[in-house]
Amino acid sequence: MPKGGRQLRLGVFFNPTGHHVASWKHSGAQIDAGINLQHYVDITQTAERGKMDMVFFQDSVAVRRANIEALSRSAQYIANFEPITLLSALAMVTKNIGLTATASTSYNEPFHVARKFASLDHISGGRAGWNLVTSVQDAEAQNFGRETHFSHAERYERAREFAEVVKGLWDSWDDDAFLRDVKSGLYFDKEKLHTLDHKGKHFSVKGPLNVPRPIQGHPVIVQAGASEAGIELAAETAEAVFCSPNSIEVAQAYYADLKGRTEKFGRTPDDVKVLPGLSPVVASTMSEAEEKFDEMQSMIDPIVAKEILATVLGYVDLSGYDLDDPVPELGETNASKSTVAELTTMAKEENLTIRELAMRVAGARGKLVMTGTPSHIADFMEDWLSNDATDGFNILPSVLPASLNDFVDLVIPELQRRDLFRTEYQGSTLRDNLGLKRPVSRYNS
Ligand SMILES: Cc1cc2nc3c(=O)[nH]c(=O)nc-3n(C[C@H](O)[C@H](O)[C@H](O)COP(=O)(O)O)c2cc1C
Repeated sequence: MPKGGRQLRLGVFFNPTGHHVASWKHSGAQIDAGINLQHYVDITQTAERGKMDMVFFQDSVAVRRANIEALSRSAQYIANFEPITLLSALAMVTKNIGLTATASTSYNEPFHVARKFASLDHISGGRAGWNLVTSVQDAEAQNFGRETHFSHAERYERAREFAEVVKGLWDSWDDDAFLRDVKSGLYFDKEKLHTLDHKGKHFSVKGPLNVPRPIQGHPVIVQAGASEAGIELAAETAEAVFCSPNSIEVAQAYYADLKGRTEKFGRTPDDVKVLPGLSPVVASTMSEAEEKFDEMQSMIDPIVAKEILATVLGYVDLSGYDLDDPVPELGETNASKSTVAELTTMAKEENLTIRELAMRVAGARGKLVMTGTPSHIADFMEDWLSNDATDGFNILPSVLPASLNDFVDLVIPELQRRDLFRTEYQGSTLRDNLGLKRPVSRYNS
């Protein structure tokens, strides 16, 4: 049992065929996963068998923009089910697991988002989670009457007001507003209906919402913003946060920073759970696990790898370079300066070609990939939990369903043996799973 007797919270992030860029070609993947409902039923039920807290679906409202030669060799962020529709179907074949999907505050109206997640919460018996994102690409803007995306500052300002409106709409009806009393003839109590009447800089929303108050009061709000504005919004509104630290030191700093900011918003550090991404490659021996990873790496198409490298380096133009050229000196870019510095130093020190660096970057793609036995993976997770680096993990299976099966069948029993993870669900809602309070309505507090 770790310090303080805490247990891990475990989400699972479903990219259709898996998080590894070459996963769609792997024998352990469901090749048409993006539009295969039975695939999602199977993997969601597997995650529930493992007693995981929630499944998570990312989303964007555009086909990813990239060099078409690379894009046509990729399966990720291209064409899939719309996630809230998908989660409604998954709600019918599961009982306990949380169902979280992304919806953008830049390309939705708050009424739509409040309504859909309130409905999903009722359909699922209190298991809905909303991943609040501000979107990142111009490709999304261009599907909604704009040439370019909102500026970073503007989209976060909009997101903050958006979240306020959504939460206000969820409180439209008191929990006990609906009497449905045939004797008195009253369907609802008019005193328990509240009209939001919001008029702000970005939104004007009268309300009330035409869905009763969600079972969880409010569906769980998830976020993954990494910038100053993103962390600030998470401290104010998020209840679970995804992040991508690549070392325990970075994770500890983020954990302390985010939790430390909650007080000024009248919240406690425990009101927000931090879930770093982790992509485990598991086998019963270390060499077998390494072989598994090497096999996936060998399947990466160099054209795809080169494109990913160019993106990570800040959308630089590598088209004039051969794959076997040395990594060139690059000028200032818009990318994360620390990432560019880290990669260019590595390339210089190890004398890497574009092909070699691209393969390394494409295999991990901003994820913390960990190769090892169940006991190695459990040691790693225990270390982070016990040293204030995390509240749990968002598991990113490399190949689906194969890597999720490995995690649930090999790693979860090891975590349970160490008392680091539940053996039964504590309750029936996502809030119960995550250990989050049910929000009191703004009209009753
Ligand atoms: C695990 C994880 C999942 C994410 N899912 C989405 C998503 O579904 N859609 C999206 O537009 N952005 C997604 N993002 C991006 C974040 O919302 C955010 O834009 C990014 O982390 C950069 O932070 P910033 O916007 O504060 O600069 C995700 C990020 C992470 C780490």
